[in-house]
Amino acid sequence: MKNILSGIQPTGDLHLGNYFGAVQNWVRLQDAYECRFGVVDYHSMTMPYKAEQLRENTWKMAFYLLACGIKPENLFVQSLVPEHVELAWVLGCLTSYGELTRMTQFKDKSDQLRETDKESLVSAGLFLYPVLQAADILIYHADYVPVGKDQEQHLELSRNIAQRFNYQFGKEYFVHPEPLFTETPKILSPADPNKKMSKSLGEKHYINLFGDEDRVRKQIKSAVTDTGDTPSGEMSPGVKNLFELLRACNNLAAHDALMGDYQAGALKYSDLKEAVADTIVSLIHPLRERLAELNADKRNVKAQIQDSSVEIRKRAQQTMREVRELTGLLNLK
Ligand code: TRP
Repeated sequence: MKNILSGIQPTGDLHLGNYFGAVQNWVRLQDAYECRFGVVDYHSMTMPYKAEQLRENTWKMAFYLLACGIKPENLFVQSLVPEHVELAWVLGCLTSYGELTRMTQFKDKSDQLRETDKESLVSAGLFLYPVLQAADILIYHADYVPVGKDQEQHLELSRNIAQRFNYQFGKEYFVHPEPLFTETPKILSPADPNKKMSKSLGEKHYINLFGDEDRVRKQIKSAVTDTGDTPSGEMSPGVKNLFELLRACNNLAAHDALMGDYQAGALKYSDLKEAVADTIVSLIHPLRERLAELNADKRNVKAQIQDSSVEIRKRAQQTMREVRELTGLLNLK
């Protein structure tokens, strides 16, 4: 069976964009592949953060993923498998300074820090971020990595590093991981439908998957429909986004009926918004219930996540024993 690895940073909330763009797809992939999904807390240390906040967000994200349908045995917390960092060191020694400076995510994030006068926070960790990501993937010999297009460059780097390792140490040891770009709905910010739904834009720009249902309704109600700059005869991005949400939630009946109204020039935005709000609420309602169940059994669920991390760690430890052997490091007997 081919195997899959992916990771998500513990960012606090999980929003509809994350769900439709990644997590829902991961849940489905579990039926066809051996899967491992990591809450990548080491990665979250590359930007300024608070210790207590990180720990809380790591648990939160793990619980969210379980509530969405990720199987507990497929879930791990990255820092409970410290071999990721060990492999990252080995791979870092095979990665050139030049290729890391060409990573667009590094350029974006370091520019962002520099522009806000935080140059000193452009850390070596931020620079090495893609090497750690390569280690995440290679340590499990993953065949496929479901990611968004924004991660394409990091995946290419992972393949280059794997190839270099194999060449350097004279063995086809690491698999060349392929990205898995599944067609997923692109969800935009309800407050600014010219931008992708994202946490970094601020609270009104994303719809929290586990958020309060009244708040979700309010957000949809105040979603931007006409931005005034859409050429006549074209659907404005805000309205398109609302239709896209209906489709993403698989409410095709409402989608098609309202689209009919739109085409007949008879669509009331208030009707569209009401349908979207109802549809989102019925999507998130069972997820919220599932989360409440998990939270009611917090200690056991946390123990389960620890156990599955220990189990998944065994595979990583095996890889590290072999890597130590191949690279000239010592192994304890
Ligand atoms: N860099 C990825 C992101 O920002 C997160 C990530 C870390 C990841 N390690 C990974 C994704 C390994 C896939 C595989 O989305």
